[in-house]
Amino acid sequence: MVVLGAGPAGLVLGNILVDRGIDCVVLERAERTHVQTRARAGFLAAGTVRILARHGLDEGLRRHGRTHGTCEFRTEDGRFRLDYSGLGQGDPHTVYPQQDLVTDLLARYLERGGRIRFGTEAVAVRAADSDRPEVDVREADGRSGLWRARYVAGCDGRHGAARRSLPAGTVRHHRDHGVTWLGLLAEAPPSLDAVGYATHEHGFAGHMARTSDITRYYLQCERGTPADAWSEEYIWDELELRMRAREYGPLRRGRVVHRSVVDLESDVLEPLRHGALFLVGDAAGLISPSAAKGANLAVLEASILAHALIDDLTAGDSEGVDTYSARCLPHIWRAQEFSHWMIGLLHGPSGADGESLFHNSLRRARLTSLRTSRSQQDWFAEHYVGV
Ligand code: APR
Repeated sequence: MVVLGAGPAGLVLGNILVDRGIDCVVLERAERTHVQTRARAGFLAAGTVRILARHGLDEGLRRHGRTHGTCEFRTEDGRFRLDYSGLGQGDPHTVYPQQDLVTDLLARYLERGGRIRFGTEAVAVRAADSDRPEVDVREADGRSGLWRARYVAGCDGRHGAARRSLPAGTVRHHRDHGVTWLGLLAEAPPSLDAVGYATHEHGFAGHMARTSDITRYYLQCERGTPADAWSEEYIWDELELRMRAREYGPLRRGRVVHRSVVDLESDVLEPLRHGALFLVGDAAGLISPSAAKGANLAVLEASILAHALIDDLTAGDSEGVDTYSARCLPHIWRAQEFSHWMIGLLHGPSGADGESLFHNSLRRARLTSLRTSRSQQDWFAEHYVGV
């Protein structure tokens, strides 16, 4: 088995396979330190934690992760909080930085005897329609190589080799939401004991705790804004303005240690299997970060695929691999639908024309329903934490 990419998708898949004695190699373009320090998502849904626990992959997050179950909306019409872990299915999130999860997954994978090649970039997957697919690779020193396996799992993200190797006719459902966020990592303790979502005429602002001294913030910005366009002072002023710090209390400021610009985009590829090549995680579909679903979907898909491959490779039962795409797509589309709903809840056009005014009034009505309707809150909680 060849797995492309050592993110949450590739490492969960590799761990489950190796634990069941299936020979597996992970090919990762980056070096180990890069993979273990790359700051990404941090909110794990209850179902994700259960999958990780079932496969003995939850020790670090049980020890260091923090249970989280509240979000706070700050809007044109006031502030409200939802204790979502007491609503819907009653599930909380676990906050655990993705780089720590990846570090744990990697350590367990190596302990279980898994093989990994860092600095090895997959260039193309060939002969995916045969039972001996081949992966062309380029090593860090520029040498070329070739790996053969019964199956290849493309867990190499949106710009990886798996996506580039798909046959003509693969359907890509795609949506550009027309919204851009400046994602910030600040060396500052969280300012709220909740995920904060603020809507403001200047645009959206978000607050998400990561650790006791690191906080993630988001600021909506114009498409095309360079990551370094705004000074730290301007960033904090803008965060405080949009989060209405004057009314609800100042933010705890700190050094901005990382910035990235994210255009909110979603896509889903269909099908997720092409002969011997499977798509998993971001390679299978991109989901906008508004509802923190990306890593959770990646873990779910990896576990579905792992069990399908185990049945096929150890018992000759191919039903799971044959139905992999059909099993994953409904989960992916439900997550996409919720994420899309969240984008509509948190962003509106900035113009003063009739259409923009109409859209923004609908958005405020949607927030009012969420503030006042218990059934709407249950629906929100179930989808916010679920995958
Ligand atoms: N060859 C080998 N490795 C590659 C290649 C390639 N051609 N291209 C990319 N990679 C590696 C990247 O360096 C990265 O380590 O594949 C890995 C993909 O990992 P992620 O991007 O974390 O994707 P995935 O495992 O699908 O996790 C998905 O996690 O942070 C969340 O929101 C994020 O939705 C994303 C989710």
